Amino acid sequence: MPELMCCIVGLLLPAIVLSHDSSYRLPNALKPLHYDLRILTHLNAPQDLRFEGTVQIDLQVLHNTRDITLHAINLTIDEARITLSTRNGSRSHSVSRIERNETLEFYTMRLDGELQTHEQYVLGIPFSAALNANDVGYYSSSFRDPKTNQTHYLAATQFSPTFARLAFPCFDEPHLRATFQVTLGYHKNYTGMSNTPVSKCVDHGTLRDYVWCQHEPLLSTSTYLVAYAVHNLSSLPVVHSETHNNVSFRSWMPPDAVRDGSFTANFGPRALSYLEKLLKFVFPLRKVDQVALPSHKFSAMENWGLVTFKQTRFVHYDDELMQDKEDKSFTVAHEYGHQWFGNLVAISWWNDLWLKEGPSTYFGNLALDALMPEWGSLQRRVAEDLATFFCKDMYNDTIAISRDVQDSKSILGQFTPYAYEKGSLMMRMLHKWLGDEVFFMGIRNYLRRHAYDSVRQSDLWQAMQEAADLQGSGAAAGDIRLATVMDSWTLQKGYPLLNVIRNYSSSTVWIDQARFMLAADGGEPTCWWIPLTFVNQRQGNFDETQPQFWLECPSTGKTLRLRKDPAPNEWIMLNPQVNSIYRVNYDEPNWRMIIKTLNSADYGSIHALNRAQLLDDLLMLAATREQSYDLAFSMLEYLPREAEFLPWDRAVAMLNDRGQLLRGDQERIFRTFMKKLVTPLLLRTPQLNSAQLRAKSGSFAALYRLAYKEACRYDAADCISRVEGLTQDDANGSQVSADYRLIADCTSIELGNNVLFQAILKRFRASDSDAKKSAWATALGCSRDFGQLRPVLDYLIQATDKVTYNYYMQAVTSALERKHLATEIADHIMQHAKAINSKLSLKQIQILLNRIIGDLITELEDNQLRQQLRGLDKFEAQLQAALDRRDTNRYWLTNRAEHFIKALTKHT
Ligand SMILES: *[C@@H]1O[C@H](CO)[C@@H](O)[C@H](O)[C@H]1NC(C)=O
Ligand SMILES: *[C@@H]1O[C@H](CO)[C@@H](O)[C@H](O)[C@H]1NC(C)=O
Ligand SMILES: *[C@@H]1O[C@H](CO)[C@@H](O)[C@H](O)[C@H]1NC(C)=O
Ligand SMILES: *[C@@H]1O[C@H](CO)[C@@H](O)[C@H](O)[C@H]1NC(C)=O
Ligand SMILES: *[C@@H]1O[C@H](CO)[C@@H](O)[C@H](O)[C@H]1NC(C)=O
Ligand SMILES: *[C@@H]1O[C@H](CO)[C@@H](O)[C@H](O)[C@H]1NC(C)=O
Ligand SMILES: *[C@@H]1O[C@H](CO)[C@@H](O)[C@H](O)[C@H]1NC(C)=O
Ligand SMILES: *[C@@H]1O[C@H](CO)[C@@H](O)[C@H](O)[C@H]1NC(C)=O
Ligand SMILES: [Zn+2]
Repeated sequence: MPELMCCIVGLLLPAIVLSHDSSYRLPNALKPLHYDLRILTHLNAPQDLRFEGTVQIDLQVLHNTRDITLHAINLTIDEARITLSTRNGSRSHSVSRIERNETLEFYTMRLDGELQTHEQYVLGIPFSAALNANDVGYYSSSFRDPKTNQTHYLAATQFSPTFARLAFPCFDEPHLRATFQVTLGYHKNYTGMSNTPVSKCVDHGTLRDYVWCQHEPLLSTSTYLVAYAVHNLSSLPVVHSETHNNVSFRSWMPPDAVRDGSFTANFGPRALSYLEKLLKFVFPLRKVDQVALPSHKFSAMENWGLVTFKQTRFVHYDDELMQDKEDKSFTVAHEYGHQWFGNLVAISWWNDLWLKEGPSTYFGNLALDALMPEWGSLQRRVAEDLATFFCKDMYNDTIAISRDVQDSKSILGQFTPYAYEKGSLMMRMLHKWLGDEVFFMGIRNYLRRHAYDSVRQSDLWQAMQEAADLQGSGAAAGDIRLATVMDSWTLQKGYPLLNVIRNYSSSTVWIDQARFMLAADGGEPTCWWIPLTFVNQRQGNFDETQPQFWLECPSTGKTLRLRKDPAPNEWIMLNPQVNSIYRVNYDEPNWRMIIKTLNSADYGSIHALNRAQLLDDLLMLAATREQSYDLAFSMLEYLPREAEFLPWDRAVAMLNDRGQLLRGDQERIFRTFMKKLVTPLLLRTPQLNSAQLRAKSGSFAALYRLAYKEACRYDAADCISRVEGLTQDDANGSQVSADYRLIADCTSIELGNNVLFQAILKRFRASDSDAKKSAWATALGCSRDFGQLRPVLDYLIQATDKVTYNYYMQAVTSALERKHLATEIADHIMQHAKAINSKLSLKQIQILLNRIIGDLITELEDNQLRQQLRGLDKFEAQLQAALDRRDTNRYWLTNRAEHFIKALTKHT
């Protein structure tokens, strides 16, 4: 997510209703020990893409049983050739009846006799299928070699989370780890690969020019991490990583990508060796293949030793946005984080998906920051995640990080930002509470203890608790049980608001907590175990993040005697570096003292993450009437002098979020205020074509982008003249990086530059570059002329290829953000709802609905909307949340907008 986008309500899949039906779990009579898998792949012609194979599974019998149930779906199984015998071949069984359950994705063999616990058995199943066309299971994809103009077909696997069962019959649950031996058959002209290196190849025997290549045995693993591929991709030279085993890296991609693939290709081995040293557990394999595939169900997949990426998420071209380079590097680091979190230590079940995604995201962020310090990405990424969840989790329609799931569809529905980014914030929270030493001791113990096994979240808490106890760490020592604390954060949704009322004569504070919600609350009262760390004005140290006190759960509030007696004329502040997810409302005198510091030369004494959060909290508290907008805008007065990106970014996002809702005079006043707010920032920003602007990276670049984007959005004269000046410079061959070029193009088009609109459209149609087309689609959406934009939107939504729909989404969201064409765009979406429903994702539709219904406050009646969207499942699934959001926003418009405008006017 490159841009901070406030207030997108949580993604909820309707399928979670089924979640308590445990019949989706395999019976526990059998345990697979080893799989011997042989797969013959045919890539002969576009109409003949298929595979056939056999699997031999060594089974341990845990309870005597007369049937074998495993996962298999959409496979043609040669039932007559199924074999089952004891390991030493002394006895065999035959299958008397076979049952398939397509709902459960089960394949059950009823046997003529009972399997005995003291025996080991070998089950052999022959099967075949077409290569999947949906990027799951064993799937086919293709690319064109621009030199020869030949189309090449390839086959690759995507087994996570529940798609291994589409490729071979297996016990497809993550805790059922087994060793694997993979042997691949294919035409000699292709390269075949799997998790481990090839050990030997022999001729196929019957098929001319085909070979069978056997791979080295793979360590005990979950089925979803097994991978193989047969392809004709080009490779970069082998890179040796500085890991204990000198793990060698090969990177594969279509030939035209090779020139630009090397940055990420080289970043992979660096990330792996950094993480190995940090986690102090040797990466156990000898090689890693990184494969950039033309199509991929997700962005990337962490298969042990064979990491796959969507090509557009791996290869970085020089003329793409800087943010993309950071995001791609992060994706790489995240996948290598998984080599420990998920691959080495598996999750027992998908309810705890966050237990692999959270740490991989957090350690991925740490690796990225350590390896590319000039990007300064850690703080920005943390701030972005905090902003996201402070926003998402204040609605009723949100979810807990860890939740029960059973069937495939709801398992897939677990892959949300809650598991990833909020999971990462949980790891950060632990890190900040426990301190470096205890945190890493706990993590390393956890990895050692559970290597090659599978875990629940309690296993992580246990390892952390032991490390804390050993160090006598105040954080989790005494009566505080880390498991109780952490469960209150991972098993329930939302986050708390703390009210802090000081007694200025006695150095005490009274604190209580309640869930923070934007709208009037619903549901039972909830509470959290909250670590309390105070900073006070004079001795303020924002690096000391370990708790001084705890707020228990349940609790009706408590009085605390503060350490280091803060003077009555000095502020106190909770939550240094915003290490925990909670908001704070202080009493007014304390707020005023904080505001005074912000408005002084000394504002930098407050940590940048806290400055951003203070703005966020106070603007939110004003929205919910807990504080006045007058107070909030007194705080905003300091902003024009703010030198850092984070507070700017957060404040502007919060203001825009409210500004979206305004109309008429109120909107005009708001725009004037925003223009005035951001103009000084732009004046401090170098010219568009200056070398200085191009040279800056990291947070500077982010701040400069924000300055241009917002100043142009609010028609600051200086921004417009700089953009217009660029046209002349272009004639002289000016160099402007993609990031600023996008802002400049958008502004020009918004100002009515029709020549540019047509030129970009022409380039858009001719280009193959996804990144460029995305940027251009966004720029085209800046037009104020619907007559001009409409044919483009029609063309994009009528396309037949998946990628093009994303451009529709980009053009439309760009237009909605600008509001000129809000009504026309909303109409376009409603008119094409059927096509959109089938072509865009649930998440994209959620964003569209929230915008056209929630932010732009549609005049349509609820019933009319329901009527129009009937039968369109994705729209229907998101409609109620969008309507609730609209109600919340209407409430604000009726009750708070006037105060907002009044305070804003007063502080202009
Ligand atoms: C199995 O194949 C059918 C028919 O092609 C398809 O509709 C279904 O989605 C497939 N199942 C899975 C789990 O992919
Ligand atoms: C096979 O193993 C079973 C027990 O594991 C044993 O009773 C039997 O004698 C063995 N048969 C052969 C042929 O080795
Ligand atoms: C599949 O299993 C489900 C849940 O146990 C059951 O309700 C359904 O009837 C089964 N379907 C078939 C075809 O057996
Ligand atoms: C390349 O092949 C495609 C069809 O496969 C064809 O449409 C196109 O014209 C060819 N391009 C060149 C330069 O030959
Ligand atoms: C395999 O490669 C050879 C030599 O490059 C080529 O002549 C042949 O046509 C290729 N075969 C296939 C099936 O692509
Ligand atoms: C794979 O690529 C090589 C060279 O790029 C070529 O010689 C070979 O024929 C290709 N094989 C297939 C099966 O396309
Ligand atoms: C890794 O490489 C280093 C230096 O090239 C060498 O000293 C070391 O023995 C190698 N380790 C392994 C496990 O091959
Ligand atoms: C909040 O959600 C719960 C169910 O999750 C529902 O019962 C309640 O009515 C909702 N409250 C509001 C205010 O929407
Ligand atoms: Zn992941």
